[in-house]
Amino acid sequence: AMPEDGTQNLKLVTCTAPVNIAVIKYWGKRDEDLVLPINSSLSVTLHQDQLKTTTTVASSRSLKEDRIWLNGKEENINLPRLQSCLREIRRLARKRRSSGDGGAESSGLAHKVHICSVNNFPTAAGLASSAAGYACLVYALARLYGLEAELSEVARLGSGSACRSVYGGFVQWLMGEREDGKDSVAEQVEAESHWPELRVLILVVSAERKLVGSTAGMQTSVETSPLLKFKKPLVVPAHPPVEGHCVVLDEFARRAANTFGKAIALGSSCLLTTHYNISVTNECSVKTTISLVNLNRNANNKVAYTFDAGPNAVIYTLQQHLEQFVELLKHFFPPETNGEQFVKGLPVRPASLSEELKASIGMDPTPKGISYIISTKVGPGPCMVEDPSLHLLGSDGLPK
Ligand code: DP6
Repeated sequence: AMPEDGTQNLKLVTCTAPVNIAVIKYWGKRDEDLVLPINSSLSVTLHQDQLKTTTTVASSRSLKEDRIWLNGKEENINLPRLQSCLREIRRLARKRRSSGDGGAESSGLAHKVHICSVNNFPTAAGLASSAAGYACLVYALARLYGLEAELSEVARLGSGSACRSVYGGFVQWLMGEREDGKDSVAEQVEAESHWPELRVLILVVSAERKLVGSTAGMQTSVETSPLLKFKKPLVVPAHPPVEGHCVVLDEFARRAANTFGKAIALGSSCLLTTHYNISVTNECSVKTTISLVNLNRNANNKVAYTFDAGPNAVIYTLQQHLEQFVELLKHFFPPETNGEQFVKGLPVRPASLSEELKASIGMDPTPKGISYIISTKVGPGPCMVEDPSLHLLGSDGLPK
């Protein structure tokens, strides 16, 4: 019988998923609806202790309609990408049930769902929040319906880069060849333990919403960037072999920015050669870039950098270079001294800087040019949250 408050038998699942930052970028689609890319890409999954999305999904026969809340605000559930994900995951669950191995897990398929999602970092600051968001949604729904396979394919329908956030460590998204996109899937290249000295810094120059979203930005690029003119970036092989990626990555340990950095810089140049109306960088990110290029020239390639579709530089460097590099950033971008932490996340110990090194950078300091730094490392893929007190939806199916 239907309970009076209409919410008994509410099934709740909460999961978390990571952000990923590509070193070989996805920037251009060959199919907008199926979200099929024009090249394969490679990314590093960042640690969820610093950057993650948490999503709770609830289902019960008493819920009247599908609803979604993002960072505390109810949003439109009818967004086409969101609808494709919901439709596809329900289709897969139905298929599995009719093949007989779905069991009780998939019995709530006709029920509506409530979705509640929060980020522990600023949304839409070019920090790939759509990647973590869709990966988390799809992972949580899959758990709700008792599904395990094909997650990256469904996440891809939400946002291309999301298909890489369903794995930890080093991940490639193979562009695939098929028109139906069945072979356009992500896979793990190396586990997060592969390269323990690798550290990641996000230099947040602006935590505001980006002006142009990725979907529109990459359309403009495909139309206007000379590098994307032939619908294939000149720098990325159509099917980079897995070994190729490992070479690129391992090379970094020896000659950092020379090889890895080149892939990154060329990837970013697709963004930078795009017609002027998509402005991914601003004065501060340009200055950051100059300081990084100079630093590398004068200090034997210690850092590699990349930009996504926003002004925040992402740095890949090794543990042994970290302290001095952060000290340089503090020197050239003196932070606001209002007590706010300049370096958030994994702690970085203070280090000393030689006058010689400072002089070699050849730049005047830009006070407050960087708002703050998020210090993190490579991390694992999506996780299930077992503690029921951490559900974002209450027993009434509404945000707590
Ligand atoms: C610059 O995955 O956000 O971060 O598929 O249109 O949702 P849509 O785009 P999205 O684009 C990400 C672009 C990028 C590069 C990358 O992550 O590979």
